[in-house]
Amino acid sequence: MDETVDETVDETVDETVRFAMAEGSEMMTTSIEDGMHSNEELIGRADVRDLAAVFATVGHEDPEGHHAVVDNCPAEFTWDYEKGARPRLDKLYEKAKRAQWNAQTDLPWQTEVDQERVVLLNQEANPGQLGWSDSDVAGTALERWGDKEWLRLGIEYQNWMLSQFMHGEQGALLCTSKIVETVPWMDAKYYASTQVMDEARHVEVFSRYLDEKLSGHYPINAHLGLLLDDIIADRRWDMTYLGMQIMVEGLALAAFGLIHATTQEPLLKQLLRYVMADEARHVAFGVISLQDYYQELSAAELRERQEFAFEAAVRMKDRMAMQEVWHRLEVPVDDVVTVMSRSPQNDEFQILLFSKIVPNLKKLGLLDAADGWLRQKFTEMGAIAFEDLVDTEQELDAVADGSPVDRHVA
Ligand SMILES: [Fe+2]
Ligand SMILES: [Fe+2]
Repeated sequence: MDETVDETVDETVDETVRFAMAEGSEMMTTSIEDGMHSNEELIGRADVRDLAAVFATVGHEDPEGHHAVVDNCPAEFTWDYEKGARPRLDKLYEKAKRAQWNAQTDLPWQTEVDQERVVLLNQEANPGQLGWSDSDVAGTALERWGDKEWLRLGIEYQNWMLSQFMHGEQGALLCTSKIVETVPWMDAKYYASTQVMDEARHVEVFSRYLDEKLSGHYPINAHLGLLLDDIIADRRWDMTYLGMQIMVEGLALAAFGLIHATTQEPLLKQLLRYVMADEARHVAFGVISLQDYYQELSAAELRERQEFAFEAAVRMKDRMAMQEVWHRLEVPVDDVVTVMSRSPQNDEFQILLFSKIVPNLKKLGLLDAADGWLRQKFTEMGAIAFEDLVDTEQELDAVADGSPVDRHVA
């Protein structure tokens, strides 16, 4: 080896050792108590339900059309090439290879979508706008709204929601390519590479659906943007999985499932069916990978994961306030806060979106680790009742096995 290369290698080794030492010393001095953070420190407010604070958080404007996040995690080579050393991941990888589909040719893009009609049908099937009654909107700008304004809200809501799906999918694309780099096991690198392709396809379908079938785009929601930045910036490789595969994709799976069950638009229904089959595999990838790894972690380290999961849960709940839509419709924030605080059913709907996340966190041991801190948090949020629902690894075979043909909507 020539000297220059040798020096570079030595420097890299030194850097790695320094990194490991810094990590180790941090671990040695962190007890559970030291790691305890208040709600203010974690989410910037004491009360999870403080809606004024939710609306006060404004997203980053990126006038140049892009946004950079420093990715702090070291990329990791492994010299252990044994395929199948982690059998469950290997099985998932083989399944993913069989389940690939083509976003451009496997969906009926020729379907004509009348967005107004879709929204009206949906409003007829689910009376009471967003679950709000007349008394909820009394005394606010919404009290004066007629059918035209509520229809416009329905349309904007759809544009906003599909835009957030698209941005979230790009977040998944970036996170998964990061996992290929950072996860230490070959079977996981193999699997993650298939997920990179899946996520590219998901960005593609939501982007095309927005462009061709809907009537406008929204920038990324403030809370979703903060969450994706946090996940990508974290230096610990497992946090990418926890933030993306368990939290963001767990919520996406529940949200896609709800829309798939209720929408009467055949193209969207088919598209979501395809995407959900992939997402179920992605969440299972997170559960399988983290289950083993979390058994090696100390209580203090698990507590950090619990706090990360809690922070992510709150940010995802906050995004459902869809502040960008109210802003575009010029509804005063105070009025929205008033209506939302009067209508607990709105909160219940948001909590439904945690139906996939809570059983998976339980399976990972995160609900009850470190004195059950996260169980307490989800109890306060009203989401603990989901803990005994089926976890995503168990339901995987029902939705994600076999060829894409199995996924055609009957
Ligand atoms: Fe996805
Ligand atoms: Fe995904």
